[in-house]
Formats: sequence, structure tokens, C-alpha cells
Amino acid sequence: MPIYFVTGGAGFIGSAFVRYILDRSPDARVINYDALTYAGNPENLKGVDPSRHTFIKGDICDRGSVASAMPDGCDAVFNLAAESHVDRSIHSADEFLRTNIIGTQVLLDEARAKGVRRFVQVSTDEVMGSLADDSDERFTEASPLRPNSPYAASKAAAEFVVRAARETHGVDTVVTRCGNNYGPRQFPEKLIPLMISNAMNDEPLPVYGDGMNVRDWIYVDDHCAGIWAAYEKGRSGQAYNIGARNEQHNIDVVRSILDALGKPHSLIRYVSDRPGHDRRYAIDPTAAETELEWMPSTTWEAGLEKTILWYKENQDWVEHIRSGDYREYYKLMYGSR
Ligand code: NAD
Ligand code: TYD
Repeated sequence: MPIYFVTGGAGFIGSAFVRYILDRSPDARVINYDALTYAGNPENLKGVDPSRHTFIKGDICDRGSVASAMPDGCDAVFNLAAESHVDRSIHSADEFLRTNIIGTQVLLDEARAKGVRRFVQVSTDEVMGSLADDSDERFTEASPLRPNSPYAASKAAAEFVVRAARETHGVDTVVTRCGNNYGPRQFPEKLIPLMISNAMNDEPLPVYGDGMNVRDWIYVDDHCAGIWAAYEKGRSGQAYNIGARNEQHNIDVVRSILDALGKPHSLIRYVSDRPGHDRRYAIDPTAAETELEWMPSTTWEAGLEKTILWYKENQDWVEHIRSGDYREYYKLMYGSR
């Protein structure tokens, strides 16, 4: 019975990835290690088969706790635990450096000590910085790392500690770099769920700057399939870009959400821009498509429809978040914008 150690499995992508593994590998067991920060939510794991899934609450920076949770000789560590929101990293970077860098180092050390077969680091296209609006350029695996936000810098640093563990200690590692994910259970601090939840509550939709920044969107389950393909077929030491060839301007995303919910465009409010706001992300996924034989299967239209439907049908999930510390967060981020 293969055993997989997944970190961050109570978050948005992590909880989708836990489901993905259990669905596609009927004999697999998952140990899900997560600190349950503001972004981790046990409700995200509702319905997951308890006979093959063990949840352990713990911090990836806590060496003793990681050592006792990670089984000897497990098949893989998938590191999805992270501080993941750019705006929070601009407000305060400390926790990003701690979790995203130190935490990754601790996991690598313990994976080596426990003889783990492969370490998969889930990274982001943001490590490669920003592309110009007016070019056809896309990020490839050869693009230099040029992070612009504290979040992206911490994820780039994490990639370097992963590289060092392989070069120095021979740990078998693979890195995935994905674009912007969307889908069910994404915390409503990120663009798509924030706009859906504000629109459902007839509240203003805050669009940064001119709304013409471009993101390359992918449905979360397609990302999960990409992580799995990199684990199974990726070359050791390699990074793979995961993207669905789906560039969208922010303002078009926001308008599509309003249209799908039957809400007026007059809810849109242009607000002051994010400092250091990356203009455009665009991924060339050729290596994943050819080497990993991976392809996304959800179109943008179908994925957005499924996502909006999930938020409509799970308003308790959203309201539970919106009624807690989120109110303070919202005031801090948007109050004087
Ligand atoms: P998320 O913020 O929804 O979830 C992060 C999870 O990590 C939470 O469950 C949280 O409790 C846990 N966590 C945070 N700090 C921890 C710590 N010190 N120890 C243990 N657990 C901790 O994030 P997400 O959007 O699901 O992203 C998952 C991963 O994918 C991250 O590594 C992120 O950098 C990467 N990624 C995200 C996107 C995206 O669009 N969301 C795109 C590319 C890559
Ligand atoms: P976000 O979901 O925070 O992801 P990232 O910054 O990691 O790409 O933001 C996606 C885009 O949407 C980004 O260009 C910033 C913009 N944005 C807004 O215009 N308004 C908002 O309230 C948020 C959260 C994001």
C-alpha cells in the first residue's frame, strides 16, 4: 500500500490533491499534515475516506512534529503547505519566509532521514516574475527566476533549498510551477472567490489598477493531475510548468462572474493598485504536455461555471469565513483603498 505525505492538505489545492490521490489510487494512504492556519479548513476534507486518510495538525517548521508524523520510507512527500497570498506578503513577509523557506528545508531534511523516495515541491509561475503586455513571450522551464513580491521571493527561495538538497544530499526532487488556480474551496482573499462572494452579497468588487493585468488560469483538478504526472514521470531535479493556455485580463474575469450571477457591472470599483503588481503571467506548458503526457481537461467556461455553482451551493462555507477574522482582514486590505 503506497503512503503519501501531503502538507497543506486542508487548504484549497491541498484538499483537492488529497481527493485526487485517493480517487486515482484505490490502495493509497495519505497522511495529511497541516497547521490549520487561517487558510486551512477541516471542512475542506468533508467526505474524504477516513480509512485511507489520516489528518495530523502540525507546523512544517516544527522538526520534531514533522519527524514523528512522516513515516519511514514513504513513497513521496508533496509539499503544498505555504503562506500563499501576495497581498498578505506585502503587508508582512515574516510568516512567508518562515513557512515557505524554513518549512521546506525541514521537510527536505526529514524526507532524507526517512528515506522518502521522491520529494515534490509545489511552486508557482510567480517565481519567474512578470511578462510584458505587448509580447507573445511565455514562461518556460528555462526562464530565469525573478520574483517581485515577498510571496514569490519566498517560493523562489524554497526552490533553491530544494535544488540544494538534491545537489548536496542526493534527495530525489521534482518541482511544479503552476499558474493561477481556481475552483471550489478557494479562500475568498483570492480574485475569483472574493469577487464571487462580494457579488453574491451585492457588495463592491475591488479591481486593482486598470484591471488589465493578465493571469493564466487553470482549474484546480487539472493542476492536481499535473502534480501527479510530475511525481510519476518527471525527471529528477527538473521543474515543470503547468498551465492551461488560458490568459485572461482581470476585468474580463470579473465581468464574467457578474454576468454568470446576473449582477450589474456597476458593482465594479477600481481601487488603487497593488505595489509591485506583476503585469502578466503566461505559461508555456509544452514540457508537461510532451514529457509528462499531461493535458488539462476543464475548459475555462466549464470550470468557471462549476466554481460559481459550488460557491452558490456552499454559502455556509463562505459565510463562516466571512464572519470571522476575515472582516478585520478585509478592512485592513480594502478599507482605505
Ligand atoms: P492555501 O493558502 O489555500 O492553503 C495553504 C495550506 O497550508 C493551508 O491549509 C494552511 O493551513 C497550510 N499551512 C500554512 N502554513 C503552514 C505551516 N507552517 N505548516 C503546515 N501547514 C501550513 O494555498 P493554496 O492556494 O492551496 O496553495 C497550495 C500550494 O500551491 C502553495 O504552495 C502555493 O504556493 C502553491 N500554488 C498556488 C497557486 C494558486 O493559484 N493558489 C498557484 C500555484 C502554486
Ligand atoms: P490573486 O488572486 O491575489 O492572485 P496572484 O496575485 O497570486 O496572481 O490576484 C489575481 C489578480 O487579481 C492579480 O492581478 C491581482 C488582482 N486582484 C484584484 O484586482 N482585486 C482583488 O481584490 C484581488 C484579491 C486581486
